[in-house]
Amino acid sequence: MTEVPEYLLERSRQRRAALGLPGGAAPAAEGGSPAAPATTAPSSAPAAAAAPQPAAAAAAVAVADPIPAVKVDTGPRSGIPVWMMPVVLLLPFWAVVYMGAFAAPKAAGGPRTGQQIYVAAGCGSCHGPTGGGGVGPALSGGQAKLTFPNEADHVAWVAEGSSASRGKSYGDPARPGGPRPAASGGMPAFKGTLTPEEILAVVQYERDRL
Ligand code: HEC
Repeated sequence: MTEVPEYLLERSRQRRAALGLPGGAAPAAEGGSPAAPATTAPSSAPAAAAAPQPAAAAAAVAVADPIPAVKVDTGPRSGIPVWMMPVVLLLPFWAVVYMGAFAAPKAAGGPRTGQQIYVAAGCGSCHGPTGGGGVGPALSGGQAKLTFPNEADHVAWVAEGSSASRGKSYGDPARPGGPRPAASGGMPAFKGTLTPEEILAVVQYERDRL
């Protein structure tokens, strides 16, 4: 059983006394009270009991006030803000979405085509957008195939570039019109910027599509 604090019992007694209910008198005062009904007429007793009520009620309120109010804490018990819980719950989902945002382009794009690499790697800026030639020689119309009858030589050329061959001729020595001279040595090496798969793709594009 829970023990009722003494100050609450006292408060109850005072309140009951103020409302004129039985059990309101203090235990000490109970001894003297039985005499009162005997001397008073039954009809006037309720009126007498009712008369002191306002004053007693005021006293009860006055007494009740000093009792420290029990603080009922209905808010969160810790210092953690209420919105923290949904944030914590949504964090893993946010992480998945966040990672997906970066993974998506690669998954959607897939490997680039030879034509895309030809544009992106800048081959077209030297050899012409359609391989017609520019700073570098023309590649279209099977020209590249004439220089490199063997696809593997073509792949090696794009990977290594022409700086090592400057001043020399490259490609098939029996090429129609004579072997190509690496006059400028300005063909960049692409082994550092393109993967072997990308080099093969752009080489096949130059051989068969330009
Ligand atoms: C900065 C200019 C430049 C860029 C960019 C460039 N090339 Fe070249 N390319 C050259 C030059 C110049 C030559 C001729 C060799 C020389 O003079 O050194 C050449 C030669 C070639 C040849 C030999 C063609 C022949 O028939 O003689 C091929 C094939 C070739 N390049 C492919 C490519 C590919 C593929 C790319 C892109 C991945 C590319 N090049 C990007 C300048 C460039």
